[in-house]
Amino acid sequence: ATQRTFYEEVGGAETFRKLTARFYEEVAADEVLRPLYPEEDLGPAERRLRMFLEQYWGGPRTYSDERGHPRLRMRHHPFRVGPIERDAWLRCMHIAIASIDAETLDDAHRRALVDYMEMAANSMMNSPV
Ligand code: HEM
Repeated sequence: ATQRTFYEEVGGAETFRKLTARFYEEVAADEVLRPLYPEEDLGPAERRLRMFLEQYWGGPRTYSDERGHPRLRMRHHPFRVGPIERDAWLRCMHIAIASIDAETLDDAHRRALVDYMEMAANSMMNSPV
């Protein structure tokens, strides 16, 4: 029997494209997050997050082909991620998830995505302030 992945169940590439595009629209306007991003162009950062999330949820493995093992905590070491940054990141992500319509993302899938993002954002913290 063929097992559909979460990635496929929520609409595949198009959904992850919309999610990360909306997320980075928020980041671009966020006074806590925007200064953390070293590059003026947020496009490459958006693409890395999109590839990572696609891979995590069972889609194409382009992220690891290009970047190797994710080691996300290590890759976030250069940036202070305290509660304020975590909250700002999650605020942007909650808006991005809310922008995906209910037909594409039903309640159970939406819940799974939100739970994962909250867990991941908490685990990315590397500073108590
Ligand atoms: C990279 C900030 C949480 C996934 C980055 C970068 C910054 C950043 C400034 C560098 C931009 C770039 O890629 O050039 C933050 C902050 C967070 C956070 C402030 C607050 C909690 C997360 C979470 C995830 C994530 C929860 C995954 C669910 C990534 C990925 C990259 C990245 C995949 C690119 C890594 C690479 O391949 O170099 N983040 N991040 N981040 N972040 Fe985050």
